[in-house]
Amino acid sequence: MDNAGKSQPENPISVLVFSVSVCLKSTIMFPTVRPRRLRYNPVLRDMVRETSLSVTNLIYPLFVTFGHNVKRPIQSMPGCVTESVDVIAQSAKEIHTLGIPAVILFGIPEHKDEKGAGAYDPDGVIQRAVKEIKHAVPELFVITDVCLCEYTSHGHCGILENGQILNDPTLELLAKTAVSHVRAGADMPAPSDMMDGRVLSIRTALDTEGFASIPIMSYAVKYSSAFYGPFREAAESTPAFGDRKSHQMDPANRREAIKEAAIDLEEGADILMVKPALSYLDIISDVKRAFNVPVAAYNVSGEYAMVHAGARLGWIDYEKVMMEVLLSIKRAGADLILTYFAKDAAKLLG
Ligand code: PBG
Repeated sequence: MDNAGKSQPENPISVLVFSVSVCLKSTIMFPTVRPRRLRYNPVLRDMVRETSLSVTNLIYPLFVTFGHNVKRPIQSMPGCVTESVDVIAQSAKEIHTLGIPAVILFGIPEHKDEKGAGAYDPDGVIQRAVKEIKHAVPELFVITDVCLCEYTSHGHCGILENGQILNDPTLELLAKTAVSHVRAGADMPAPSDMMDGRVLSIRTALDTEGFASIPIMSYAVKYSSAFYGPFREAAESTPAFGDRKSHQMDPANRREAIKEAAIDLEEGADILMVKPALSYLDIISDVKRAFNVPVAAYNVSGEYAMVHAGARLGWIDYEKVMMEVLLSIKRAGADLILTYFAKDAAKLLG
């Protein structure tokens, strides 16, 4: 088959088949072609490596709560702790010293109610934690997760009526939450609720309040995933009844990811996130190809827990698997990776 004069196909698989067929057609074959030549010498191997992972790509999640001197280990997430506002600055300093540029904060409030008032309380755990961190380490970039599920008594991501989450009335509360985080000093809110229209309502509220230059990282493509299990234990945000399938995406859907990402971009998102990462590398790749903006991927709690569990059993090598996982997410197209591995990876990346 002659490929000359044919226009390059769009689909990634056809691009690959196209390039391979062009290569074979040019009659450069074994023994002339030996891909191993580029692999014998470690220096050359480094020189031709296609993907590189840097500590500047990493974002470390922190769990903040009320109380004094609290550093409560999270059972299913070895090495991670829930810590109180008064000690959070210590963690922030450690993270900064390791060269990690950013954190994302999750709050566990003292009181939960029907409307998640703790989320937008100017004196709430996140608002206070942001102030502490910014005071102690002003250079550390502080991202805040914007959702109501950790703050509602029922554990759902919005206001309920007859067991259903009301989309539009929830938007106002999300916008209020994002504004209160930014007012406290947060550098970038990250809405994770998956309500329709939340990016627009947050963008509008930030602009109205004089925060037009604050970017939004949207959890644009967030699947309804069983990989969030350990996080929900940590954040005490397991829904009291039902699930999150009425707003988070169906793991079977790929086309819909582009639709969600396009909508968020249109509404003013600056960075698009895909979540989870490992079982969704195809989605990361799709989003990266489709839009000309930075893409973030969330290497979630269950993905972290699995690697630790395997390593504890002595079945896999923790450090090697961790680095391969992070590299694969980067290779798929993520510019930024939110990961509980950030501290351990930073130590290895130097
Ligand atoms: C919602 C939120 C969740 C995660 C991040 N933000 C949980 C959920 O959607 O139920 C999961 C993160 C992880 O599993 O590491 N506030």
